[in-house]
Amino acid sequence: MRKMIVAGNWKMNKNLQEGIQLVKDILEVSADLKADKQVVICPPFIHLASASELVVAKDNLYTGAQNCHMEASGAYTGETSAEMVKSTGATHVIIGHSERREYFNESNEMLAAKTNAALSNGLNVIFCCGEPLEIRDAGTQNNYVEEQIKAGLFHLNLEQLNNIVIAYEPIWAIGTGRTASSEQAQDMHAHIRSLIKNHYGDDAAENITILYGGSCKPSNADELFSCPDVDGGLIGGASLNAADFHGIIAAMLAQ
Ligand code: PGA
Repeated sequence: MRKMIVAGNWKMNKNLQEGIQLVKDILEVSADLKADKQVVICPPFIHLASASELVVAKDNLYTGAQNCHMEASGAYTGETSAEMVKSTGATHVIIGHSERREYFNESNEMLAAKTNAALSNGLNVIFCCGEPLEIRDAGTQNNYVEEQIKAGLFHLNLEQLNNIVIAYEPIWAIGTGRTASSEQAQDMHAHIRSLIKNHYGDDAAENITILYGGSCKPSNADELFSCPDVDGGLIGGASLNAADFHGIIAAMLAQ
């Protein structure tokens, strides 16, 4: 069964008190979610334990981290392991966000190792991919994203793939207000699904959740989510406001 998901990526926003308030506000406005229509809130690490405690009573609402380290433990000052994330009650982790790839030099190899660490600790991975503007302008975005998916995920077996959600986030659309058109999103999502089909077969392709991310907001969520291969969104800016986030959740529930 393919799930739709709306995931909020808070990035480095909200102090602890503000974050707790935002989770409470989201809980207040969140309509009834379903097993196949879920929400994941991804605050900074320091909010995770409190946020997880707050959402535990709400069905189909989960928390996730925005990153984790690939090693299990040790002398990695400032880092957080997948096991630590799991111990907060979080169930998901975002791996390979374009900001991590760019500002923290996370290579495909590191991202594959982080994905392994997350899966072996029982976390679901929201694996991000997406091309920069110059690649889109050159028209080679399909190959670019294909390389990211192959390098990050194709070492996994079919069972492991069940715990992967893919998020397609064209870098030129992140935080810019410039959303990919629903046609651009659908084309890339269909391409990603065909890659999964070729490597893992029909059922895996049919079941995998592929999110769109990049300036998704209440006013465009419905059009994006109604594309056949768009199974929800990874939401940055609009996840920082409970009313906007709720509008996007409502668009998912209306599908
Ligand atoms: P945005 O960010 O919604 O603010 O464009 C999306 C993301 O980076 O996940």
